[in-house]
Order: sequence, then C-alpha cells, then structure tokens
Amino acid sequence: MSSKTYRVVQWATGGIGQASIRHLVENPSMDLVGVLVTNPDKVGKDVGAIAGVADVGLAATDDRDEIVALDADCVHFAPLVPDIDMVCRLLRSGKNVVSPLGPFHPTEYCRADVEKIEAACQEGGVSFHGSGIHPGYAGDILPLTLARLAGRIDRVRVYEFADFQKHPSPWMERMGFGRDPEELAANPSRPPEVINHFAQSMAMIAEGLGKTIDGLASETEFAIATKDITHAGGVIPAGTVAGQNYAWSALVDGKPLITFHTIWTVGHEDMEPAWERVDGRYRIVVDGDASLELTLDDKATGGNWTAMAGLTAIPAVCAAEPGFVTHLDLGVVQPRGLVR
Ligand SMILES: NC(=O)c1ccc[n+]([C@@H]2O[C@H](COP(=O)([O-])OP(=O)(O)OC[C@H]3O[C@@H](n4cnc5c(N)ncnc54)[C@H](OP(=O)(O)O)[C@@H]3O)[C@@H](O)[C@H]2O)c1
Repeated sequence: MSSKTYRVVQWATGGIGQASIRHLVENPSMDLVGVLVTNPDKVGKDVGAIAGVADVGLAATDDRDEIVALDADCVHFAPLVPDIDMVCRLLRSGKNVVSPLGPFHPTEYCRADVEKIEAACQEGGVSFHGSGIHPGYAGDILPLTLARLAGRIDRVRVYEFADFQKHPSPWMERMGFGRDPEELAANPSRPPEVINHFAQSMAMIAEGLGKTIDGLASETEFAIATKDITHAGGVIPAGTVAGQNYAWSALVDGKPLITFHTIWTVGHEDMEPAWERVDGRYRIVVDGDASLELTLDDKATGGNWTAMAGLTAIPAVCAAEPGFVTHLDLGVVQPRGLVR
C-alpha cells in the first residue's frame, strides 16, 4: 500500500468532483485516469479546465462504456443523483468505488442497495465505501473516535452549522429561507425520510458501541426574522424563516442516545429564537463521565471535506477484503500522498 500509485476515475464534476480533480492532479500517490461528465458542454474539455486548474492532458468523456473499460483501481462516484446499477457495473468491472452518495452503513433503509453492492463487489473482487463529511465522517467515525476517551457515555450529539450569510447558496428559497413558517412546516425542505439517510451514521455509532437502535425521533424548530435580513442573494423578510434547526435522534433502550442537529441560519442576529452562535462547522458533544466536546472548523476556504474523506480512504478501500466496507471494517484509514 505504501508505494502504490492508485489509478482513479472521477465520476461527475460538480463541486465535489472538481475539488477531487484538483486534489488528484496534485497527489503523487494518485493518477487521474478518467473523468465522466453528463453536461454536454464539458464533453471533450480538458479536465483541468473544468476544475479551474491548468490543463492536465486528459479529456472529459460522457461515454460510460469507455470508463467501464478503463484499467483503474477506484472510482470516486459523485453525481447529483444515486445510480446503484451504475455503481454495481463499475464494481463488477473490477474497480473499487468510494461515493459520497452512500449507502454508508447497512440499515433497513438501504439494505436492498447494500445487498446489490455486496454481490457486485464479490463478482468484481473489489470493495465499496460510502464516504463524505456527513454522512461519512463528522457523525460516525469522528464521534466513535472520541468515544474512546470517555469512561461512560450517556448521549452523543453532533451539530452541523451553516450560516448562509457567510456562505451564500443559490437555493435559499428552496431550502426554506424567507418562507412562511407554517407553509414551510407543511412542506418541509428536508422531508421526514431524510432522517433515514443520516440514521446510517447513527447506526454505525451504535454498532461501534455495541448497541442497537430501536427507534428514531425527529423535531424541527424555525427561527423567525425580527427584521429584514440581507444576504448575498437577496433579503429574508421580517416574519419569515431565517433559521432552521433539525434534530434527529436515535433511541437505544427507549431513550435518545445519539442526536444529530442541523442548524441553518442566515446570520445570527435579528431572529427569534436566537440560537447559540458557534464558530465552527461541526461540534461533537459526548455527555457522560467525563463529558467532552470537539469543534471542527476550517481555517481557509477552498477545501472540500467531502471530496477528501473519499479520496483519502482509497488506499484502505483498495486493500480491503472484497465487499461493502464501512469505517468499522476499515479501521484507522492511512491516507497516501498528503505529505509532499
Ligand atoms: N456525504 C456527504 O457528506 C455529502 C456532502 C455533500 C454532498 N454529497 C452528495 O454528493 C453528490 C455530489 O455533490 P456536489 O456538491 O458535487 O453536487 P453538484 O455540485 O450539484 O454536482 C453534481 C454533478 O452531478 C452531475 N449531474 C447533474 N445532474 C445530474 C443528473 N440528473 N444525474 C446524474 N448526474 C447529474 C453533474 O456532473 P457534470 O457537471 O460532470 O455533468 C453535476 O455537476 C450529491 O449527490 C450530494 O448529495 C454528500
């Protein structure tokens, strides 16, 4: 594993795919050998230009057969929408796959997909790993790693913070900001089934702690703008939704053991309730004896944690026994080519 160069394909060139290309062309342990695009304007373009860096002498293709026929160790599969049949085809062709779309952990919600993937892995003699920042890191391997420092664990809480005044999004209205709170409650931007996606990470924590989840619970709270709030893309009118707090809990022995909070705001002032202001993107809190807390923040813009969580796992995924592999199978992942 230490001296191998990994031949990697990037599937799709959205935000994550472009960050992946920028990393793969810099990392001496990785060779970017193919890039699949769906956007016709990108077909035939140098993939460096697509990712905003110098040309690398590799043209993007929309030909799936060409990618399947490539000699490659791993595909970083990051399109907008899942395509389990395509993932299985790549696996059967003998390529490992890491993907921020998951699945991440075999729960009832994704069992049928995991079974298909497992069969394709066995046929191709390769492995699949669901990667990413959340699910994939902040709400599974990170709290599990911290758990080793506590003598007793009563509760694990994972907070994800996003301030859209600092990081504008083109999807503000679709996400629920500036909408009437009652209308948003009736037509939520995060439908109830989203909990099942993140519950895969909760199941990984529970399994890592030797427990089984026996139920899920969810609560949503909105913060209302007390006056007009301006952001890069417009204005959140007074009286409309300026903050959203989604709390999803996994129950063990009838009590919440793990809770994931997603706290989205547009700024921090001028809304009610005014939730605690946190400098950081994730906070992990372990309540117990002794309680502990960790805040994860980035020191500069430009990084992409979701891309890196997948790419750094490639050596471990390629070395794993064939099959669907989670963090519980991979253990301590040993990235390659980062120190250079
Ligand atoms: N686990 C995690 O932590 C995590 C975090 C963030 C995102 N994600 C997931 O990762 C995926 C990629 O995220 P992103 O931020 O890179 O998304 P994005 O910027 O919206 O880009 C997605 C890319 O997918 C391709 N695409 C567009 N429409 C498509 C369609 N109908 N079918 C198939 N492909 C299509 C396009 O690729 P081309 O331009 O190359 O044609 C597009 O650029 C998403 O599914 C997202 O939910 C996971």
